[in-house]
Amino acid sequence: MSDAKNASLRLYQQLREQIQAHNHAYYTKDQPTISDYEYDQLMQQLIELEAQNPDLVSPDSPSQRVGSAPLDEFKQIRHQVPMLSLSNGFSDEDIVEFDQRLHRQLDQDSAVEFDYIAEPKLDGLAVSLMYENGRLVYAATRGDGKTGEDITHNVRTISTVPLALASSAPSQLEVRGEIFMPHAGFKALNEAHIAQGKKGFVNPRNAAAGSLRQLDSRITAKRPLAIFVYALGAISDPDYAQTQEQLLLNFKALGFPVCPLYKLVKGSEGCLDYYRGLANKREHLDYEIDGIVYKLNRLDWQADAGFIAKAPRWALAHKFPAQEKSTTVNEINVQVGRTGAITPVARLEPVFVGGVTVSNVTLHNQAEIQRLDIRVGDTVIVRRAGDVIPQIVAVNLEKRLPKSLVYEFPSHCPECGSDVLVSGEGIIARCSGGLICGAQLRQGIKHFVSRKAMDIDGLGDKIVDALVHQELISTVADLYALNFEQVLDLEGFAEKSAQNLIDSIEQSKETELARLLYALGIPQVGETTAEQLANSYGKLDKLMQADKEHLETLPDIGPVVAESIEQFFADQSNQKVVKQLFDRGVHYDDVEVVAVDQESPWLGKTVVITGGLDTMARAEAKKRLQSLGAKVTGSVSKNTDVVIVGRDAGSKALKAEQLGISTMSEAELLELLN
Ligand code: IVH
Repeated sequence: MSDAKNASLRLYQQLREQIQAHNHAYYTKDQPTISDYEYDQLMQQLIELEAQNPDLVSPDSPSQRVGSAPLDEFKQIRHQVPMLSLSNGFSDEDIVEFDQRLHRQLDQDSAVEFDYIAEPKLDGLAVSLMYENGRLVYAATRGDGKTGEDITHNVRTISTVPLALASSAPSQLEVRGEIFMPHAGFKALNEAHIAQGKKGFVNPRNAAAGSLRQLDSRITAKRPLAIFVYALGAISDPDYAQTQEQLLLNFKALGFPVCPLYKLVKGSEGCLDYYRGLANKREHLDYEIDGIVYKLNRLDWQADAGFIAKAPRWALAHKFPAQEKSTTVNEINVQVGRTGAITPVARLEPVFVGGVTVSNVTLHNQAEIQRLDIRVGDTVIVRRAGDVIPQIVAVNLEKRLPKSLVYEFPSHCPECGSDVLVSGEGIIARCSGGLICGAQLRQGIKHFVSRKAMDIDGLGDKIVDALVHQELISTVADLYALNFEQVLDLEGFAEKSAQNLIDSIEQSKETELARLLYALGIPQVGETTAEQLANSYGKLDKLMQADKEHLETLPDIGPVVAESIEQFFADQSNQKVVKQLFDRGVHYDDVEVVAVDQESPWLGKTVVITGGLDTMARAEAKKRLQSLGAKVTGSVSKNTDVVIVGRDAGSKALKAEQLGISTMSEAELLELLN
């Protein structure tokens, strides 16, 4: 090696070490030893040196924090140890029960108090950091728990993620934690975005997720992301730690950021004390948390307790209750749906609650407005829990203005002026305008093109509105008569995007009967019913000829649904639209009709299949169950009769257990099917 080369190598190593030490002082110890300006100078020198000597650059160089050229796509990474989720608890009793259950499972006397690590449940994104021989080799998202996305390029830019570990680290070490965006950074980012005319993120979690989903890590590098680590994945040294607490201390010693609020507590009482303490501090934290996590401290007991479905038995997430905030009602007006249903909506003074800004809340129906006695100008309490849609729970009558007026429900459709028909004691209000109502038409088309219906890509709400407004379409069948020039003339379209839309309309012509039926938007016919109709009639002609008596013989089709289907197909304009759809090229393969045994024990039962099956595909199992008269749906609720639990079943199995719904293994299913 030449002297010059040697000199630059020495300089390079010095610079790297210097910068790493400053990083540690700044990010981990929170005690910077030089000014930002001096730091930037050092970094600039390093980057220049690397540019002159590309062979010097290693993936753990501090310069990698600034990001690199965009990737084409995210690679998949299979987790060596699955990334689990957590079971939830909500009440004090849930926590006591969790602790007692663990005592039983581990065969321990209930008088023995277990040690737990209690820590905040961070509202961010789970990440796995894999180190081999002390170097960060990859960072991956949780994905479905088994396979995640490779986000190494983005995670490298997070300044507190160690790129290299001390030599004391095990040769293989996978550390798991949460990436999140602290409040201050979130606020600044949103302000900057809005100043540039871009849309702000709804909450810090979405902002963190959006930042990690970048192919261009130079964007991520500019986002104020942080991380706390809290769990172990794969490891080469089986004796690395004996307790959860020791794990956290080891992580800290290796330079990983660990949430400083964790605490070793005793028994369920200790857990609950910690919960109450932190619930009071929650508002003042720098970051969003949505509960507390309790983890059994002894790792050998964790191993003994094992897992259920996708969550460990030795840990519990104690969720904070739904958040409530006060705000005012600026206006109440109604929305017209695709079947003419008229739904009142309260327009609120925007309020941040449960992690999102809420400005519109559905009031469901006239009876609900009366029940809560909501008036324009009222101060109301808005609640939002988890992923549940926000709702108004009460009016603060003390703040009601003396001249407030009771809301008068419209007697005419605000869109087309037709009469509003009200039934069911103010529960159902409908516009009687049918085909002449522009709102119904627009909503009907939006439904027709949606993913689970005809799945036409690139036909967003605004485009549908424009097509209807310019009278280019007046029925769903007109979509199939649109031409390239017409699309190109619409605002916002260029040659390429216009062609893309024409192509996806073309592609949607090849469809399935169940999709088409669902897409038609027959009142009362959702996805599951559409599928059942397709399986029972096989072709659309047959269904169109069926009368309501025949329809009612199908399991789960009652008089209301049967009547609605009969009426829909009796309508001449609907018949015309169906004919036009076929004339313009929509087509599907006939469905093989499976006769239903009226004696079948599955008749009318609602079944959910979750997890993988070994002896047949899920679709096959679904078909066989349907042929026996079962209704196979996708999500577990109170109305579910049986959940079939396959291999690696997840949250649905858990929910069944929580709701006390009976479950069945694949073997039991096979026995009953045969
Ligand atoms: S431990 C085996 N600890 O919550 C246990 N998870 O609902 C694995 N989360 O996917 C998780 N804070 O993204 C753990 N202190 C914490 C957490 C935490 C947030 C997230 C994590 C996980 C999800 C499960």
